[in-house]
Amino acid sequence: MRIARIVGARPQFMQVPSIMRLLEEAGHEHILVHTGQHYDHALSGSFFADLGLPAPAYNLEVGSGRHGEATGRMIERIERVLLEIKPGVVLVDGDTNSTLGAALAAVKLHIPLAHIEAGVRDFDRRRPEEINRVLTDHASDLNFAPVPRALDNLKKENLGARSMLTGDVLLDCFLEHSGRREGFRGPLLQSLRLEPGGYHVITLHRPENTDLDEYGRFAEIISFVAALDKPAVLPLHPRTKAALDRYRAAFGSLGAIKVIPPASYLELLALVDACDCVFTDSGGLSREAVWAGRRCVMLLHAVTWHDLLEQGWAQIGATDRASIAKAFERAKIPEGAAAHAFFGGGKAAQAIVAGLERTFG
Ligand code: UD1
Repeated sequence: MRIARIVGARPQFMQVPSIMRLLEEAGHEHILVHTGQHYDHALSGSFFADLGLPAPAYNLEVGSGRHGEATGRMIERIERVLLEIKPGVVLVDGDTNSTLGAALAAVKLHIPLAHIEAGVRDFDRRRPEEINRVLTDHASDLNFAPVPRALDNLKKENLGARSMLTGDVLLDCFLEHSGRREGFRGPLLQSLRLEPGGYHVITLHRPENTDLDEYGRFAEIISFVAALDKPAVLPLHPRTKAALDRYRAAFGSLGAIKVIPPASYLELLALVDACDCVFTDSGGLSREAVWAGRRCVMLLHAVTWHDLLEQGWAQIGATDRASIAKAFERAKIPEGAAAHAFFGGGKAAQAIVAGLERTFG
């Protein structure tokens, strides 16, 4: 098989290595295409370096823009690449604009499409990720569901016949790199003057939490974390900077919050490994916090990873101070091993490669 693997944004790079390796070992051709949605070293290059990924065969340099503008540029440029390399399958993952751009380009050219992390739903159609997921699942010839609930969602949408349960590829990557993270921890904690267990980690990047016209939510979250009795490390996503500047101008101080540049994959997980509690609006980081056995408060209105809440592994804090406080109080140390097993035990890539070979090989 010749597989075109199309990625573009930070959470997607971690889902490449384990599948790429297995495909290449089995003699298939894996061509990595980067749309260029994320272009800063901190959001892209540093991840390639941490994960030991080769430079992509193509970088389409689409950059930022409004949703239609950026996605349109992607479709145009991906189509051109697909016409050139003529893959047997296009493989995409997740819910970003790069996912949808690649899916549309592939199906319009009648190239078989497979989607990793399919069937995840938060049922809020105003969120771009939800639209991207739903449309990509329906365009795909083969859907790989990370958890049983995602497979159920696909069945309810009449996609069961072209869907299978695989486990979560993000966990493959998490487990593979667990040893390497340890080396990062000591120097990082030393440079930030933090003690293991003596600090929290906070990340915010969702538009509904960081855009200036939703500044009220942002201020509630930051003021809660700023008043905690332990320092909280905030690796700053570019999207979050404007809201943080406004907060600083209004209040002067960020209290307990220590702002650092966006962390690389291994740095962020090294920080998570030794922290007390993770506050985040990222679906990926909340799963990683639970797998690391750390307390986790999700800062979201819409729930994407319902199982984390149902199993009691994480708490949801919406975005007002009272509900964040309640979630923080309730958050307890999850059983990492049970959560690993629930998400497929780190064997998702094997299931995905087997599914690709069976269907398209
Ligand atoms: C995107 C994904 C989201 C994912 C997140 C991880 C979509 C719709 N959203 O959100 O699902 O969780 O990536 O980070 O695809 N910017 C930079 N440098 C970059 C990239 C972006 O400064 O390298 C700036 C852009 O100018 C823009 C903002 O960051 O203002 C947001 O970038 P965008 O790609 O729209 O989405 P994310 O918020 O990163």
